[in-house]
Amino acid sequence: MSIFPVCLLVCLLLVQVVAPETTERSEQRFREFVRQHIIEAMEPNNCTTVMANRNIKHKDGPKDKNTFIIGNENEVTAICHGQIEPKKTPSKKTFDVVVCVHTIKEHYEGTKKYYQIIEVECANNLPVHFYKQRRRNG
Ligand SMILES: *[C@@H]1O[C@H](CO)[C@@H](O)[C@H](O)[C@H]1NC(C)=O
Repeated sequence: MSIFPVCLLVCLLLVQVVAPETTERSEQRFREFVRQHIIEAMEPNNCTTVMANRNIKHKDGPKDKNTFIIGNENEVTAICHGQIEPKKTPSKKTFDVVVCVHTIKEHYEGTKKYYQIIEVECANNLPVHFYKQRRRNG
């Protein structure tokens, strides 16, 4: 096998990896992001109820941890304005969040964190994946 076909194959694979995702795919991931991570209002003691109501879990059981950003879709989506290529992006403004951690059975314990920077993956101007929350200078 000569070098050329191998290079061609590798190059095609690379193009596929860096190619932007379709807007349809981004919108689908965005709806999933909203379901799992955006809520207008909640308190730490709402974790068990909200995790159940929104049916947030892994295929094989409870999700260990889930963060809810307290806010509306517009202000969270604003983090990604102008960001077409899939890219990890920190928020400029801060958000309060509730972090729900799985305890036993279907139960979750919540902690509220104030003024957090949110790090999300943006694609096609939409937040499509939640990475983490952190303090402003952390
Ligand atoms: C959170 O719990 C309070 C009671 O502790 C309840 O009044 C409120 O409706 C709940 N909110 C959500 C989003 O479940």
